[in-house]
Amino acid sequence: MLSPVKVGILGLGTVGGGTVHVLQRNAEEIARRAGRGIIVTHACAKEVNKTYPFNLDDIVLTEQLTNVINDPEVEIVVELIGGTTIARDITLQAIANGKHVVTANKALIANHGNEIFAAAQEKGVIVAFEAAVGGGIPIIKTIREGLAANKIEWITGIINGTSNFILTEMRDKGTQFTDVLAEAQRLGYAEKDPTFDIEGIDAAHKLTILASIAFGIPLQFNKVYTEGITNISPEDVQYAEELGYKIKHLGITKRTEKGIELRVHPTFIPSKRLIANVEGVMNAVLVQADALGQSLYYGAGAGALPTGSAIIADMIETVRTLTTDPGNRVPHLAFQAKALVDLPILPVEEIETAYYLRITALDKLGVLAQVTNILSEKGISIEAIIQKEPCSGAEHVSVVILTHQVMEKRLNQAIQAIENLDGITGKVTRIRLEMLED
Ligand code: HSE
Repeated sequence: MLSPVKVGILGLGTVGGGTVHVLQRNAEEIARRAGRGIIVTHACAKEVNKTYPFNLDDIVLTEQLTNVINDPEVEIVVELIGGTTIARDITLQAIANGKHVVTANKALIANHGNEIFAAAQEKGVIVAFEAAVGGGIPIIKTIREGLAANKIEWITGIINGTSNFILTEMRDKGTQFTDVLAEAQRLGYAEKDPTFDIEGIDAAHKLTILASIAFGIPLQFNKVYTEGITNISPEDVQYAEELGYKIKHLGITKRTEKGIELRVHPTFIPSKRLIANVEGVMNAVLVQADALGQSLYYGAGAGALPTGSAIIADMIETVRTLTTDPGNRVPHLAFQAKALVDLPILPVEEIETAYYLRITALDKLGVLAQVTNILSEKGISIEAIIQKEPCSGAEHVSVVILTHQVMEKRLNQAIQAIENLDGITGKVTRIRLEMLED
């Protein structure tokens, strides 16, 4: 067997530690698969004198990123420092040095992937990013290779475990968003600053990548419509349940005749769909492809060992292809770089979907008729409507409406007209609804 391939890891936190642990634990199996051993010889860590729960005997530890990426022995650099500024510079430098790069950094790929892949293409090196989407679920490889015969029609995914955990707890316990968020932080699922997770930014990074490899379009993070879960109330969660739906935070990308939909938001989906039963911190990606039909990929979207699993799979793939002609490798974004097509990304006003609306109305003759008249004038068809008896002494009632599919622009006009009615109080709550049918 050839001598082992030497790897330098940038970042020895949870994911870096998990990667080293699995590489050491499964060294023999990994070598049998790759055709060569894969060993970590260099690692950059914030604290080199700390005690780590894995064997660092044969690893040169440093606090300088450049000591790893400039070392001539290192053939594969694993970027686990996160962020987009230093990570971008260091990745481009590693590529310029002729290193292959494996990264779990979705923000880096979503924001700077076009530039990074162009540089890698030029230099004939691999930049692999399986761990960037869905943690340990091999969804990148699946879409890029397993589904390569298909025209992908749409992808919808639960791709942020923190949001899924919060929505699951809100439903199971009937609790408020803020209470569950505090619990998620206590359990270590949510970061101290949870903005990226609860505002949908993390999911938007991942969706950017999925859309690119599904449709052969450049990465366009700035065009994703992004909405998080902070406004979901226990009332909406309960109405969803009553109507046979669950609220899930989804990343959705769809090919339409007018262009590509690229959106992240809370969504009503029928409870009977398999993906509706993906609970807690788990992730799942549902792909609608023309030849295969629907297929669903489920697993751990984060964590030391699951993410390490995806990172090591990328290392093995890289080692197997070290000697191949770069022109014959699987293209970074699934389609040949010259074959990427800049299809238009639709603004959210142009998407077509169904909606859940919750309206607070004065319990007075004619108010509901005015609401339904507005919807009818705008050509918006009602699928279901609920209005319960008001609580004793209450002047207002909640009116809940499910609509058929309509263009968002038209729905916005209807919402504005409804909010202007004298008998309506406050803002209309709107949650998009997807049936996820073939
Ligand atoms: N913060 C992410 C999540 C995990 O909650 O899913 C890493 O992508």
